[in-house]
Amino acid sequence: MTGGSQRPSTPRTSGQGIAAEGSGSGDAFVRRAGRNLIFATYGALRAVKLYPVENAAVQKALAELAGQSTELLASEGELELRMSGEFIFVNETRLRLDLENFASFSHLLSLFRAAGIGSISLSEGVTAKDWLIFLSLLQTTGSDDPSERFDQLTEKLESAGVQAFTLAVPVEAGAKNRERATERAKRTYTQSVAATRELMSSVRMGGSPNIKKIKRVVQGIVDQILSDETSLVGLTTIRDYDEYTFTHSVNVCIFSVALGKRLGLTKIQLYDLGMAALFHDIGKSRVPQSILNKSGGLSDDEWRLIASHPWLGVLALFQVRGAQELPYRAMIVAHEHHMKRDMSGYPKPIRARELSMFSKIVAIADGFDAATSRRAYQTVPWTPADVMMEMRDNPRRGMDPVIVKAFINLTGVYPVGTLVILDTFELAIVHAVNPLQEMLSRPIVRIISDPQGNVLFPGTTADLADRNAEGGFHRTIIKTENPERYGIRVGDYFT
Ligand SMILES: [Fe+2]
Ligand SMILES: [Fe+2]
Repeated sequence: MTGGSQRPSTPRTSGQGIAAEGSGSGDAFVRRAGRNLIFATYGALRAVKLYPVENAAVQKALAELAGQSTELLASEGELELRMSGEFIFVNETRLRLDLENFASFSHLLSLFRAAGIGSISLSEGVTAKDWLIFLSLLQTTGSDDPSERFDQLTEKLESAGVQAFTLAVPVEAGAKNRERATERAKRTYTQSVAATRELMSSVRMGGSPNIKKIKRVVQGIVDQILSDETSLVGLTTIRDYDEYTFTHSVNVCIFSVALGKRLGLTKIQLYDLGMAALFHDIGKSRVPQSILNKSGGLSDDEWRLIASHPWLGVLALFQVRGAQELPYRAMIVAHEHHMKRDMSGYPKPIRARELSMFSKIVAIADGFDAATSRRAYQTVPWTPADVMMEMRDNPRRGMDPVIVKAFINLTGVYPVGTLVILDTFELAIVHAVNPLQEMLSRPIVRIISDPQGNVLFPGTTADLADRNAEGGFHRTIIKTENPERYGIRVGDYFT
């Protein structure tokens, strides 16, 4: 779909480059050195508290701490300790918390929190004496209010002539909330995939799965989408090849609920829709895996088996425990989701019929997720933007044009996760749809390579609706590109 003989010259990047940026040896060094720095700080804090300054133990601990920080500064060029939730970051690297360092980590975190400190930057030439003053001040009592404590502390450091430490308050609440929303979204997503895996394997083994757990999962997805649409929709780009069947069901559920919300469905209706969407392919658990994963052509018999998953799904739904709690619409969706508007799909209905609203919604979410995923029989997925246009413009796809339009409004012309090339020759990944409705073709993007093709990880975000002084746009999308061509895993930029 993305082929064409006249490609504009585009920056070249390689997957290798990204791996090196993300988890190279430099990262491991910072993690190790950072961990030692925390141990040394903890040791020095204790020594300063227990013994008089001239004590050899104190001197040794402070000398070690000064040594550690100087070493890190020398190799990294900068040294920032940042507290975020229960984590400590050294520059951009998150230190791993384990049993061994648990005591020192939590002690430091609680001291910093009480002093209203969000981050500490150290400047070159930090001495043992600087550390002594800073750690002593940190352990003296002061105001109970962290922000007052913070002011007292910075004043005292200044009057003591210590300039090696630049303290900053925690990042503003907004950023923190966003971080929390993303964390919550990730949790919801992983739990949903796990519950779906359990459900499908239970059906495959001939068991009768309990519907309660799935109900909770769907409620979680609906609640999350109602409170913050973008974080969960962004996660649908994690299309795990091995887990395709499960992530697919969860993605279809997320897209359907987000779409239903746009169409004005009530919360209760969204619960029902979400259940129906999550169960839409349950009939596939009755089809042998060898056929589902077959990469070559299918024989007529094999194809007939796959095409029977809609009505096999209805049978499976009759069997789930607590089926009385299952909306009957879920059965209709399982049955209808491949029929298409003109009934040219499967199974072929005996009489003329109108597809249910839920089926139309799920069919679009399903078509979109399936076409943009890599599977056994589809090694090169379509770009999201191409799928969108195909669904809109090709009537043979059998999608409801009004709902496709709502879907484009939801995801933008360039859906979240699309790799795009900008007129600045930067590569970018679509991060979120532009909140301005008239800017559907100008999403918020994450720029992941500079014009020379150097990979930036995790990259910086830019609003394509931003204009320069003359009123022109800073950046414009030239075309979409297939991430695989550049060895890019889009999901890496959303975790
Ligand atoms: Fe299906
Ligand atoms: Fe499906």
